[in-house]
Amino acid sequence: MTVVADTNQHYDLDPDIFGQFLDPLRKYSSALYESDSDTLELAQRNKLRFVAERLGLRGGEQLLDVGCGWGSLILYMAGELGCRTLGVSPAPRQHDYIAEQAAARGVADLVSTRVGHFEQLDLPARGFDAVTLLGSIVHMPDPDDVFRRARAVLRRGGTLYVSESCFRNRATRTAFDDRDGTGFVREDIFGFGELRPLSELIAAAENAGLSVISVDDLTEHYRRTIEDWIGNVDAAAERIDAHGPGLAAKLRHYLEIANAGWGYTTKHYALVCRNAR
Ligand SMILES: C[S@@+](CC[C@H](N)C(=O)[O-])C[C@H]1O[C@@H](n2cnc3c(N)ncnc32)[C@H](O)[C@@H]1O
Repeated sequence: MTVVADTNQHYDLDPDIFGQFLDPLRKYSSALYESDSDTLELAQRNKLRFVAERLGLRGGEQLLDVGCGWGSLILYMAGELGCRTLGVSPAPRQHDYIAEQAAARGVADLVSTRVGHFEQLDLPARGFDAVTLLGSIVHMPDPDDVFRRARAVLRRGGTLYVSESCFRNRATRTAFDDRDGTGFVREDIFGFGELRPLSELIAAAENAGLSVISVDDLTEHYRRTIEDWIGNVDAAAERIDAHGPGLAAKLRHYLEIANAGWGYTTKHYALVCRNAR
């Protein structure tokens, strides 16, 4: 049986902290900047539209979001496309926030969530047209298991979207996995987070019997997203520190470590797979 690490320490922080540096949808993953003048808010909406396009959503589909954060994707897909959405994450505070937001936006009938680790939840076989994992597989110890489970809940012809930060290749992982900066982000910030090379995620998709249909390199978009987050942390440092002295500096340090690696040690990819048979 897979042992699932507790990843909740970061995501169980007060949602107000994330409200201070993320966009208004509180999307905690890479945005997509279509022009130099795009704000973080616009770029996050661009990204959600991009995910919908890559999944081929037309409206009304059943969608499972694994690692749903503060609900940006499920609220957007329900509100813009009338999708029936289920969000999963082990962090209870995220679910209270999503329920409030769904009610405020009039989509409570289309948005539901379950608290738990994806690897341990019982979900309906072939129950979904699309499954998404944005920045969440990094917190799961066994990618083969995750891709297998994702395929099992997808209907035939359904689509899986995964975007994740990756080591640039296996040699970089060997060289950098034990460095202080990697350890600080993995242990001090998150609790568990395992960057892998893209080849490992592709192998897991293949082993699960999925067909890989596209890979996009979004590395430069994540660099700019994190620059915008750092600007917001600086602007709201006093309010963030009210939740814990030194918290703003700690957040800034982790975001700077993440941004120092792009293109050298790390990449950020979007991977789309189909359950073709
Ligand atoms: C970086 S956040 C991304 C959130 C969201 N996808 C977004 O783009 O805003 C990672 C999310 O994965 C969730 N997570 C961590 N481990 C998980 C697991 N085993 N099963 C499901 N979700 C998990 C965390 O609680 C958090 O919500």
